[in-house]
Amino acid sequence: MYRSHTCGELNAASIGQEVKLSGWVQKIRDKGFMVWVDLRDRYGITQLIFDEERSSTELMEKAQKLGREFVIQVSGKVIERESKNTNIPTGEIEVLVTEVTILNTSLTPPFTIEDETDGGEDLRMKYRYLDIRRNPVKNKLKFRHKVGMEVRNYLSNQDFIEVETPYLIKSTPEGARDFVVPSRMNEGQFYALPQSPQTFKQLLMVGGMDKYFQIVKCFRDEDLRADRQPEFTQIDCEMAFVEQEDILNIFEGLTRHLLKEINGVEVADFPRMTYAEAMKKYGNDKPDIRFGMEFAELNDLAKNKGFNVFDQQELVVGIAVPGAASFTRKEIDKLISWVKRPQVGANGLVWAKYNEDGTLKSSVDKFYSEEDLKTWAEATSAKPGDLILVMAGDANKTRTQLSALRMHLGNELGLRKADEFAPLWVVDFPLLEWDEDTQRFHAMHHPFTSPKKEDFALLESKPGEVRANAYDLVLNGNEIGGGSIRIHDKETQSKMFDYLGFTPEEAKAQFGFLMDAFQYGAPPHGGLAFGFDRLVAILGGQESIRDFIAFPKNNNGRDVMIDAPAKLDEAQLKELHLQIDNQKEGSKDIHEK
Ligand code: AMO
Repeated sequence: MYRSHTCGELNAASIGQEVKLSGWVQKIRDKGFMVWVDLRDRYGITQLIFDEERSSTELMEKAQKLGREFVIQVSGKVIERESKNTNIPTGEIEVLVTEVTILNTSLTPPFTIEDETDGGEDLRMKYRYLDIRRNPVKNKLKFRHKVGMEVRNYLSNQDFIEVETPYLIKSTPEGARDFVVPSRMNEGQFYALPQSPQTFKQLLMVGGMDKYFQIVKCFRDEDLRADRQPEFTQIDCEMAFVEQEDILNIFEGLTRHLLKEINGVEVADFPRMTYAEAMKKYGNDKPDIRFGMEFAELNDLAKNKGFNVFDQQELVVGIAVPGAASFTRKEIDKLISWVKRPQVGANGLVWAKYNEDGTLKSSVDKFYSEEDLKTWAEATSAKPGDLILVMAGDANKTRTQLSALRMHLGNELGLRKADEFAPLWVVDFPLLEWDEDTQRFHAMHHPFTSPKKEDFALLESKPGEVRANAYDLVLNGNEIGGGSIRIHDKETQSKMFDYLGFTPEEAKAQFGFLMDAFQYGAPPHGGLAFGFDRLVAILGGQESIRDFIAFPKNNNGRDVMIDAPAKLDEAQLKELHLQIDNQKEGSKDIHEK
């Protein structure tokens, strides 16, 4: 038996017990006549003591040979500690060791296994298994497990059943690039890893499964950000015989359950906002509504006053930043440089200070009287002490830029509190989105999403104005889920492919299986998928998903620990009917034979 207890469970009530513990050496304090060792496992830390007066010379020598991260097993007696540590559950006791066995030695770890480590990101990624020993990472993985369990319990209690769908599939057009897998047995053919189980879950509805869910890996070959990984996990769900309202209710219920069980937070009914309203008020389809700073359109108030910069623009739009009238010239200049960075791309920023004494002063005093500025203050709901910031330009671009500034200020001013939760449904997304690159419409969500009945007639004349039965769940400014009511008849689905520019042959080749299935009694159905990593991170008070994933990829999509992706050897390539083109210097392109 390696252990009678874990390193997190002994306390004052255990005093006098003979125990066995196993774990890692976290810390050694050697005073010569006494050696203290902090022994760590997943559950906690227990202090061990080796004492010259009470232990044999041989045991003292063994203790003195221990090193950091050695794996040891000890036997001993629980005794009361002289200097107690009330910060940890095991802080009142220590174990007087009578026997120690070294189960494994350890090299000196490349960074300290402490909450505040000296290891940089790259080093910790390379030795991720050591990083996982640290509390901040370990606790996030435990947290993820807890959220996963709550999700499974909740959905299972609501009669959902978890069904696995295949990973080796044909590509689903979900917007990103596919990761592909060459087939050895089918020369020249490739599987794609699923960007989501979208078509399979719809087929499960045709199969009569009624309520499906799956905590499932999805794969997308897209550029990485803090909230994006090439392989990530969804809580994927689908239901038959439902309308949008049913779906919103069920998953609002799940989210509310999680907020209560995991965070102890009770949230009232989730507010709903249309996509059009979200764009107008926040310049963003995933607004963080924990703080105000709503957009005010100022065209009527700011144009035609002699200020050319505004006159020519499609949209003049502003926000009031609470308490920021006290910003110095330098601080405002910093904001101006911030919006001019290529990542934001704004031309500039006009400001007006609504001083505490009620006076108004702006960067465009030459063109606008104090009376004019008062109207801006009213429109933006600015109060004395606030700073009004105004941008102008092409409507969509300017909204996006002002939204970036709003979020930046929300962060800078500490308005985005991690322990405050503001969920929001964004509904009525457009069905189609114009793509400049390909010069045609794309499905904004995916091609299986149904248009709103009342907008159907616009499909021919104004495709960009057709709204979809599609919705996103937003939490604290992050899109944590999205879904739609699907098309469930062959005719509408083929029409949709037609609008999206597929020839009937292409549609049949790619999605014939789905349209065939629709001919065998497909029930009305719809669903949604949560981004599980994002959900877990946000419930955990963070926006970066990386530490909530045991073995994440870095920004270049690499796993630096196992060093993947990697080259294949010639024999393996040959077997897969692939060859490497080494003709050009440095060219390593893989070609199909
Ligand atoms: P969608 O593409 O909106 O919908 O994805 C659902 C949710 O998955 C999360 N997500 C990601 N998380 C981490 N890394 C990524 N690269 C990544 N991409 C997406 C987001 C997102 O809201 N099949 C549809 C769902 C449906 O219609 O039912 C789908 O996949 O939180």
